[in-house]
Amino acid sequence: MKGGNIIMVRGGHLSIAMVVLMFTTILLWGWDKSYFASFLPLTRQQYMIPLSEYVVAVSNNSSTPKDEMVKSENKMKGRSNNTNEKEQPGKGSDYFDADSISKPTPISKVCNYAKGRWVEDNRRPWYSGLGCKQWLSIMWACRLTKRKDFSYEGYRWQPENCYMPEFERSSFLRRMQNKTLAFIGDSLGRQQFQSLMCMLTGGEESPEVEDVGKEYGLAKAPGARRPDGWVYRFPDTNTTILYYWSASLSDLEPINRTDPATNIAMHLDQPPAFMRKFLHEFNVLVLNTGHHWNRGKLEANRWVMYVDGKPVEENKPLDMGKAKNLTVYSIAKWLDSQLPRHRRNLKVFFRTISPRHFFNGDWNTGGSCDNMIPMSGGSEVVQDGSSDIVVESALKGTKVKILDITAISQLRDEGHVSRYTRRAILNTSDCLHWCLPGIPDTWNELLLAQI
Ligand SMILES: *[C@@H]1O[C@H](CO)[C@@H](O)[C@H](O)[C@H]1NC(C)=O
Ligand SMILES: *[C@@H]1O[C@H](CO)[C@@H](O)[C@H](O)[C@H]1NC(C)=O
Ligand SMILES: *[C@@H]1O[C@H](CO)[C@@H](O)[C@H](O)[C@H]1NC(C)=O
Ligand SMILES: *[C@@H]1O[C@H](CO)[C@@H](O)[C@H](O)[C@H]1NC(C)=O
Ligand SMILES: *[C@@H]1O[C@H](CO)[C@@H](O)[C@H](O)[C@H]1NC(C)=O
Ligand SMILES: *[C@@H]1O[C@H](CO)[C@@H](O)[C@H](O)[C@H]1NC(C)=O
Ligand SMILES: *[C@@H]1O[C@H](CO)[C@@H](O)[C@H](O)[C@H]1NC(C)=O
Ligand SMILES: *[C@@H]1O[C@H](CO)[C@@H](O)[C@H](O)[C@H]1NC(C)=O
Repeated sequence: MKGGNIIMVRGGHLSIAMVVLMFTTILLWGWDKSYFASFLPLTRQQYMIPLSEYVVAVSNNSSTPKDEMVKSENKMKGRSNNTNEKEQPGKGSDYFDADSISKPTPISKVCNYAKGRWVEDNRRPWYSGLGCKQWLSIMWACRLTKRKDFSYEGYRWQPENCYMPEFERSSFLRRMQNKTLAFIGDSLGRQQFQSLMCMLTGGEESPEVEDVGKEYGLAKAPGARRPDGWVYRFPDTNTTILYYWSASLSDLEPINRTDPATNIAMHLDQPPAFMRKFLHEFNVLVLNTGHHWNRGKLEANRWVMYVDGKPVEENKPLDMGKAKNLTVYSIAKWLDSQLPRHRRNLKVFFRTISPRHFFNGDWNTGGSCDNMIPMSGGSEVVQDGSSDIVVESALKGTKVKILDITAISQLRDEGHVSRYTRRAILNTSDCLHWCLPGIPDTWNELLLAQI
């Protein structure tokens, strides 16, 4: 591995260099109690991923980088300047309104949603962190903590060469009529799922939304802390939103089914049984993994790596980075082989790794992310390739699409739960998970722009 990934930012000559360039090592896990180490080799590569399918209309210039700096400076002085609002293309338009999509002038430039900049936008957030109690885990609802600065909520992502349709829940639901959108992944995937539920309900109590977990065998097992996933249906449009927990995206199987203390075979080259079983039910699938690939987590879960149906551990332990790479490649290849067989016109996205921001230490050595000033390290991503080389490489040549949020989110260190975590017993900060509303809302906006 050659050093870390490089995130090139412009417009950031404001003091503190907050951008950490390596996401390796240990972190805090939100799904269960254990903490674990993560091994995440990321190197920078220069090629552009084939994005030909993503060529869409471009937005007209909204604000120049110079304006952006003025805005940042104003912000640091406690003033805000929302001049960008009037410059929105498609403002107030229907999300899937073909008319609004045709308005911006199409150009031949390739649209890369991950390249662009954060701009202030007082129409964010989409829902209230106080109100979205029905869907939001309390540990991520920063509005319910002692945190006082919520300026991180007021930004949207503006890709450089792509038209970003404005999110609008009723048109999204209409577009997803009779359809199912599924998230499968770790707790960061669960954050994106909760964010979407809040966005689609406006964060309001929604008794009409049905819990249909049983259709997918997702009732809570006796003695379990929670079910392995949740499924909700919006009755008016018959739209289903699903989340299934699979932190490693590999198939887990007890080695001895009758022994409760048995080790679990973690089949690196087999997709989770749940995904194999229900893939034909999905119209949109969003995968993620990353913060689970470390020895500590494997041992805590009694997971034993298997490849080709056989344990790999005893003879030659597999490097964690290689193990993760093997799984990501396997799942991309498997999905690519499945896609043509799907009558539902299934779209699969692999979401890239969500960056962590522990400064001055790690999760267990007093590491923190106390900066509360948005984008103090810059607001722009200018690189063409993804910072998540493993996912980017694995998807090359497949029909699985990349949902690249890594460099975008890297700029948002102030958006983590930080020291307001409810796991304060260890006096640690959660610089892995994000406050909601917050950064994962943008991931959903980027997802919805591409489906
Ligand atoms: C941008 O807007 C200006 C003024 O409204 C217009 O003259 C120009 O053609 C537009 N450019 C693009 C690329 O849409
Ligand atoms: C867009 O902005 C760039 C500089 O940021 C400028 O060179 C270009 O002329 C602008 N284009 C339009 C259509 O305004
Ligand atoms: C907002 O920005 C514009 C130009 O970017 C400037 O003319 C105006 O004075 C600013 N307003 C405030 C309140 O800073
Ligand atoms: C809901 O959508 C599913 C397809 O996802 C379809 O099979 C079912 O008939 C629909 N139900 C209603 C009541 O429209
Ligand atoms: C949704 O499903 C119902 C029942 O199968 C059907 O009547 C309706 O036309 C479907 N709507 C769309 C947009 O597919
Ligand atoms: C599985 O576990 C049960 C209960 O501990 C034990 O009796 C049995 O021998 C085990 N089977 C194998 C194949 O190890
Ligand atoms: C990941 O796996 C692919 C396919 O087996 C291989 O070509 C690539 O070199 C691997 N990358 C790493 C970083 O191990
Ligand atoms: C907790 O962390 C804060 C900030 O790093 C520090 O000031 C405080 O002394 C720590 N408390 C304990 C009990 O370690």
